[in-house]
Amino acid sequence: MSAPATDERLIAARADFPILATDVRPGVPLVYLDNAATTQKPASVMAAMDDYYEHLNSNVHRGVHTFSEKATAAYEGARRKVRDFIHAASSHEIVFVRNATEAINLVAHAWGRANLKPGDEILVSEMEHHANIVPWQLVAAYTGAVVKPVAITEQGRIDQDAYARALESGRVKLAAIAHVSNVLGTINPVADMARKAHDAGALVMVDAAQSIPHMPLDVQALGADFAAFSAHKMVGPTGIGVLYGKRALLDAMPPFLGGGSMIDTVSFEKTTFAAVPARFEAGTPAIAEAVGLAAAIDYLRGVGMETIHVHERALIGYAMEGLSTIPGLRMIGPPPGERAGLVAFALDSVHPHDLAQGLDAAGIAVRAGHHCAMPLHTRYGLGATVRASFYLYNTFEEADRLVETVEKTRAFFAR
Ligand SMILES: Cc1ncc(COP(=O)(O)O)c(C=O)c1O
Repeated sequence: MSAPATDERLIAARADFPILATDVRPGVPLVYLDNAATTQKPASVMAAMDDYYEHLNSNVHRGVHTFSEKATAAYEGARRKVRDFIHAASSHEIVFVRNATEAINLVAHAWGRANLKPGDEILVSEMEHHANIVPWQLVAAYTGAVVKPVAITEQGRIDQDAYARALESGRVKLAAIAHVSNVLGTINPVADMARKAHDAGALVMVDAAQSIPHMPLDVQALGADFAAFSAHKMVGPTGIGVLYGKRALLDAMPPFLGGGSMIDTVSFEKTTFAAVPARFEAGTPAIAEAVGLAAAIDYLRGVGMETIHVHERALIGYAMEGLSTIPGLRMIGPPPGERAGLVAFALDSVHPHDLAQGLDAAGIAVRAGHHCAMPLHTRYGLGATVRASFYLYNTFEEADRLVETVEKTRAFFAR
């Protein structure tokens, strides 16, 4: 199969990422296909963070001095940028946290403890990342609520009949669903699932960690009550993520963490709390990281989210076609047209960790293991898989190298 032509903007974009010009070992160039774990950073993101530290570093919201005001403006500017990027109705709906995991924990603890009672149900799907399972288990143990898994089909889709039946119990208070699975790549029909959840009186938490970096997304059109994502998976820095929450829901939620910045008044008799989003941002936030996230959004918008989505769709189709020619290779998940740019697979003759080492020897970075989705792997009777995950800077030639090296490694172990 000959490789499709790559969009000129994406060919040019590769040069924006200094690390992509690095050799893994002398003479072995890096082929970075571990983007679902974390993405590489363009020079503009690193420059924005350096610039912040070099020219306006100060704490936010606290000082009246010029630099503090500038830092606050940069931090709040980043919040507005996120609001626009995900089409939230207001900046008050954007809470800065450490990562997607913390965002989900925040909802589980702040909303969950205040709203769940014994017998209430939280729906999750079998394909969820542990970050969208374990926080619900923790709050269920605390409140007496029950976490109910919804089955997935052999092709890696959430069983929509099972989902509809689960909602009929009348006890479901919240459905927590990945927009895109980090193992199957499945793009779930979240808007439709949210409508059904709302009809049943339940709220919807969308784990958008693997969708927001890769496709245009509108939290209001999706019907998300809450959404979570991490900057580091969208060419931004580690250490900052976002919780989106509908204003009325956030307004009604008690704090999660206590301390400075999240209060209105403090006394030993009675402490009152700040309005949202400050109520959920206790302590000094990740200011340089917020600046980096804003630069990441500028970068992604410059390339174009639709361009990225189209490129990744072509790339994953091409890679899967190549992988399908390898004897004894099993891919899990739906066909390319229904998935984002990642694929998990296993060879019947080579352990995933050995395969990943074989790929690493050729400079190809992939992930091997359960990818924080043990129930999903159990569902498929697999202990582990190898996952190749693409991003805007990956090329068809890199997909070719992946396929060639998987085949070479298989042949080596077959000797
Ligand atoms: C679908 C999904 N949800 C949540 C997370 C958690 O992201 P983080 O580790 O940045 O909190 C990940 C990370 O891989 C993910 O893929």
